[in-house]
Amino acid sequence: MTAFFVTATGTDIGKTYVTAGLIRACRRRGRVVTALKPVASGFDPLSPESSDPYALMEALELPVTSLERISPWRFAAPLSPDMAAAREGRAIDMADLEGFCRESIATQETLFIEGVGGVMVPLTEHDTVLDWMTTLRLPLILVAGSYLGTISHTLTALDVVMRRDLSVAAIVVNETEGSSVPLADTAASIARFSAGAPVATLGRRATDAEFDALLGALI
Ligand SMILES: Nc1ncnc2c1ncn2[C@@H]1O[C@H](COP(=O)(O)OP(=O)(O)OP(=O)(O)O)[C@@H](O)[C@H]1O
Ligand SMILES: [Mg+2]
Repeated sequence: MTAFFVTATGTDIGKTYVTAGLIRACRRRGRVVTALKPVASGFDPLSPESSDPYALMEALELPVTSLERISPWRFAAPLSPDMAAAREGRAIDMADLEGFCRESIATQETLFIEGVGGVMVPLTEHDTVLDWMTTLRLPLILVAGSYLGTISHTLTALDVVMRRDLSVAAIVVNETEGSSVPLADTAASIARFSAGAPVATLGRRATDAEFDALLGALI
């Protein structure tokens, strides 16, 4: 059983893109793989095909009926989950969320759990994604962008997770569209300060070979 938690320095950085690519790389290798997106906000039931769970289900080649199994906490408002849940008079029960994840961690051969937003997005009035990750203690895949400013954002996120003694399996510097900063130089700079956490890169529209190499570095 191999499981990773996919988090990021912020929203829209590439967690789903990286997770879907790793799922496909697992499948090319003949590895049994599954993925969860337990909490999704901004979910429009009228166009599920634009959602994260749908992108993961597509990579897994699962039918759309798997939605509830992959992503039980879905909220309509494109807000942080605490706010999006409150709009619907709901709240995330952290024990239920942990139990839901643990069931798959215990039974799945290869598992990717995509978080939501960045490392400290609130899930409830008291808990953030950091608390969720701390409970599960899975190795993290920290996805970062390559835009100007990412180095500080990435090292800040890294410092926060390391303070919780969480292990970082990889920092993935995922090339930001139109970035003015060279990808390799950004990764090298992050690596100098990453306290031993491995740093990988993915270009725009990354190739199968890039995802195969990333998976090879992880498993
Ligand atoms: N390397 C890349 N090449 C091409 N497109 C990319 C790349 N990385 C991300 N994208 C695109 O950028 C957008 C944002 O990425 P993605 O949805 O993976 O971010 P996210 O971190 O999962 O966001 P969220 O916080 O909403 O879950 C998507 O349309 C995705 O397909
Ligand atoms: Mg996503």
